[in-house]
Amino acid sequence: MTDEVPLAPNAPRPMPRVLALANQKGGVGKTTTAINLGTALAAIGETVLIVDLDPQGNASTGLGIDRRSRRVSTYDVLTGEVEFRDAILETAVPRLHIAPSTMDLSGVELELAGQRDRAYRLRDAIRRLNAPSGMSIRQRNDIDYTYVLIDCPPSLNLITVNAMAAANAILVPLQCEFFALEGLSQLLKTVEQVRSTLNPDLTIHGVVLTMFDARNNLSSQVVEDVRQFMGEKVYETIIPRNVRVSEAPSYGKPVLLYDLKCVGSQAYLRLASEIIQRERTLRATAAA
Ligand SMILES: Nc1ncnc2c1ncn2[C@@H]1O[C@H](COP(=O)(O)OP(=O)(O)OP(=O)(O)O)[C@@H](O)[C@H]1O
Ligand SMILES: [Mg+2]
Repeated sequence: MTDEVPLAPNAPRPMPRVLALANQKGGVGKTTTAINLGTALAAIGETVLIVDLDPQGNASTGLGIDRRSRRVSTYDVLTGEVEFRDAILETAVPRLHIAPSTMDLSGVELELAGQRDRAYRLRDAIRRLNAPSGMSIRQRNDIDYTYVLIDCPPSLNLITVNAMAAANAILVPLQCEFFALEGLSQLLKTVEQVRSTLNPDLTIHGVVLTMFDARNNLSSQVVEDVRQFMGEKVYETIIPRNVRVSEAPSYGKPVLLYDLKCVGSQAYLRLASEIIQRERTLRATAAA
């Protein structure tokens, strides 16, 4: 007996929550947060896809994906050559997958120039990611994702705009350093522009303070300033500066696999539960 059901081509699909990690400032912890938040969410039962949208490919490298296995990448997804599923690779973490990137991605802006749907390439590909909900288990070639985390490049270019157009919400990593707030208003302005043109439902999920150094007074001052400026949008959880966090990528591992007990891993686990909690509140408010 077969349990296969014929499906309408536009049958509804379970949609993942799509969070874009964005900040045009370099080196603030976008990639580190994508990898380790993704791992922590997977560890607590979510099914997570990390989309590496940075031509540097740091998220792919940090998750142990060597360059030779990146034959199909997010570049091919954005140019419409392939579906997401053809680009996705497993990682060492159960329920955590990645769509890797290559340097090709740096040329995508020119390639898409003039295409009317150029800002929606990622959104449309994500809409086709999960299988239609009427599909039987036998027909599904893979699992459905509950979270998609997009690791953006340090720029507000077309790639980042694609991420913002595809996202439900933006997660902003801010490094606890003197110039932390510099550039934030430009980022918020871009989010506002995307909201008013491409994606009216886009919100700021939250701001995560990274690389906090308790021995440094400046770090505490930055926390205070950012909380003053962004209020409740700032997550309670602060990611400490922790050498284990910076060592882990050179082993191609998330810090949670490299050293689960270190303060960095524990902070990312707390951040994941805080994000899930915030999601519940958002859903409850939306339903009310
Ligand atoms: N909590 C932390 N403790 C120690 N080092 C950290 C921590 N978070 C990030 N780092 C280190 O800081 C550097 C920058 O981090 P990361 O690559 O995540 O930033 P990014 O915003 O993705 O950078 P880019 O803008 O280049 O993509 C990396 O070397 C990373 O290992
Ligand atoms: Mg990065």
